[in-house]
Amino acid sequence: MSLLIQNGRIVTAGDDFVGDVLVEGETIAAVGPALAAPAGAEVIDASGKLVFPGFIDPHVHIYLPFMGTYAKDTYESASRAALIGGTTTLLEMCCPARQDDPLEAFELWLSKGAQSACDYSFHMGVSRFDGTTEAALREIASRGVASLKVFLAYKGAFGIDDGELFRTLTLAKELGLIVTAHCENETLVAELQRQLLAQGKTGPQWHEPSRPVRVEAEGVHHLMTFAELTGAHVYCVHTSCREALEAVQAARLRGVRAWVETVIPYLVLDKTYAEQPEFEGAKYVMSPPLRDKWQQPYLWNALRSRLISTVATDHAPFDFAGQKEMGRGDFTRIPNGIPSIEDRVRLLYTYGVCRGRIDLTTFVDAASTQAARLFGLYPRKGTIAVGSDADLVVYDPAYRGVISAKTQAMAVDYSAFEGWEVEGRPSLVTVRGAVQVRDGKFVGRLGHGQFLTRPATHY
Ligand code: URP
Ligand code: ZN
Ligand code: ZN
Repeated sequence: MSLLIQNGRIVTAGDDFVGDVLVEGETIAAVGPALAAPAGAEVIDASGKLVFPGFIDPHVHIYLPFMGTYAKDTYESASRAALIGGTTTLLEMCCPARQDDPLEAFELWLSKGAQSACDYSFHMGVSRFDGTTEAALREIASRGVASLKVFLAYKGAFGIDDGELFRTLTLAKELGLIVTAHCENETLVAELQRQLLAQGKTGPQWHEPSRPVRVEAEGVHHLMTFAELTGAHVYCVHTSCREALEAVQAARLRGVRAWVETVIPYLVLDKTYAEQPEFEGAKYVMSPPLRDKWQQPYLWNALRSRLISTVATDHAPFDFAGQKEMGRGDFTRIPNGIPSIEDRVRLLYTYGVCRGRIDLTTFVDAASTQAARLFGLYPRKGTIAVGSDADLVVYDPAYRGVISAKTQAMAVDYSAFEGWEVEGRPSLVTVRGAVQVRDGKFVGRLGHGQFLTRPATHY
């Protein structure tokens, strides 16, 4: 089956020109001006539209047993929502509990992914490092998982100690794996939570004071020290503030191989959302927390100057009713997370590109190309080039819409962006040549998504 996308403004991380893209089967066969349509090809007129490489979300949670409950989405709902939002590949955190067997966890997460409509892979969570862990991680890496995930937070749950961190990073360096890390000092979080609760400060507005910017910056500094002494390559997930960015910048100047991710909530939301009355703020509880509004220009500037490599979501969907509500009377029990897998691309386009904070090529780089490069998917993913997978987003910049829980595909009962206006939307989305979204609606096939094996490149 051939597909010819004609007269679109083709934008990659490096190019911006008007032309055509020819797809043959699952891959891009030609890119250029005035391409001829092969017999029987479907022709899409993309005049006035933007044509982007499929977007990649490098940090999502779909199957997530966490804080006494489970994240709401399945691969069925999450991959559909991802595609409607223009995300054609996602990287999920495989998060076994401390007592779980890593190989069994990996198989469990793989079985969940079989329903996916978009392509996917995992960052393998290391929540314990004992005598059996090394062999399991070697096996998982040999099966095409080129990245690990560690938590320096969540004491007693996913969090690992310093000895385990050292051994994980040492093994990662040997195997060429990049280690993604949630950076917060778990001891400081636990002590500050205890103090606040003892003072009767129990509402969601106290979540941020229990994990202030210095707690995050200390976590980043800690990771950087361990990366420096092991030589491992590291990636700070969901970076929320200037103080944490400065810790990475300082380490980079020392030669540490470190990259930074931020997530869409930090770019557009601030801590006042978590301070809303009537427990409404619980919808905005995530970790690290939403910060002061004055932090946002630093994040945008770091994105524009490319200190921040990627914009992900940290999609972690918990209903308000019955799940976020578990934390009424004790903010430490509010399941952490803000769902946004469906919203990331159009929010970044609207509040980044349309507001003049980033240009179009930076937008593509941050939302697609850098994730492909860092996680072993480039040039198969993350660009529009002959031989690359035909993951394409035809984006209609003239469309105007409003985000609402009533119309979203994510399986969660609220939207953190309820009523927000967005400019543009993915009108057509393909995954390896198959049209999965047409006119903004999912028309694809569940199960079309492939588990992507990725080579280790971070030696
Ligand atoms: O609040 C968050 N970030 N929830 C998901 C789990 C994590 O820390 O990534
Ligand atoms: Zn995290
Ligand atoms: Zn996360």
